[in-house]
Amino acid sequence: KEEGWISGTSLYLYQGFWCTPLEIKTLISFQTHFQALDSDVLVATFPKCGTTWLKALTFSTLYRHQFAMDENPLLSFTPHQLVRFLELDVYMNNPCPDLNNICVYKPRLVGTHIPYASLPASIKDSNCKIVYICRNPMDMFISLWLFTCKLQDKIQAPPSLDEAFDKFCRGIHHVGPFFDHVLGYWKTSQENPNKILFLKYEDLKEDISCQLKHLAMFLGVPFTEDEEKRGVVEEIAKICSFEKLKEVEVNKQGSSIMGIPNESFFRKAKVGDWSNHLTPVMVERMDKLIQQKLENSGLTFKFSY
Ligand code: A3P
Repeated sequence: KEEGWISGTSLYLYQGFWCTPLEIKTLISFQTHFQALDSDVLVATFPKCGTTWLKALTFSTLYRHQFAMDENPLLSFTPHQLVRFLELDVYMNNPCPDLNNICVYKPRLVGTHIPYASLPASIKDSNCKIVYICRNPMDMFISLWLFTCKLQDKIQAPPSLDEAFDKFCRGIHHVGPFFDHVLGYWKTSQENPNKILFLKYEDLKEDISCQLKHLAMFLGVPFTEDEEKRGVVEEIAKICSFEKLKEVEVNKQGSSIMGIPNESFFRKAKVGDWSNHLTPVMVERMDKLIQQKLENSGLTFKFSY
């Protein structure tokens, strides 16, 4: 047990990762009751690595034949309402939910932050597909720290950058250690590329059309020549862009999960913002950690353009 990033909260090491007691309870329901279908698609992510973006992109790509793009439900609902988190939302409200009913569109599309090793057996044993996104750990850490500071009760002091950074380097943060999470999905994606599509935030920022085509192909709904000619790929990229989504009214108010304001999922969306926050000493410590953790894995990150 360790003190969490928000003062007064505790994190517990459960099945090798850090989570709250409430999450342990909902994870047990998720692991016990979830029955994957071969047609299911799971958006799995590490927090602050582009979950909101990937949910929007996967939703729009997978279901693009079910609505006109100018009637995309993303214009009326948040990505987290359309692609619901299993352990943080669905199973938190009901230990044995009817997912066929909850997932209005078919095939079923759901989200999770749970590490690969702790996913329910039926996800691993079935032919369901997983799309995973990660991000360079420096930007991910800064995004998480600023997100936590924003959520912190105004009366309590937010975690200092030093304190949060030290906890991050020791792996003590929600669903951390980060490197175990990323490597769990990375290794499986290397062994079984038809099961997991492993994406990186920086690659999406660099060439969204190319990444969207990969995503569509992986999901079994490749863009046709005619769709490409009609600019469908660019249309999806545009409606899911940071600039567009953050201006959609529903994303500017209210909350979709655990009382977290919808607007807090949209901040700066830049690659390299870490350089405005981390000290040279922190960068050196992180560099060493990255080298040590990713050695021989074949996984690399981009830290700037
Ligand atoms: P920053 O804090 O660096 O701005 P998550 O969705 O996993 O919680 O990640 C949030 C991060 O993704 C935030 O990063 C946020 O600004 C960024 N983000 C949210 N929507 C995005 C989008 N449509 N395109 C690109 N980045 C997005």
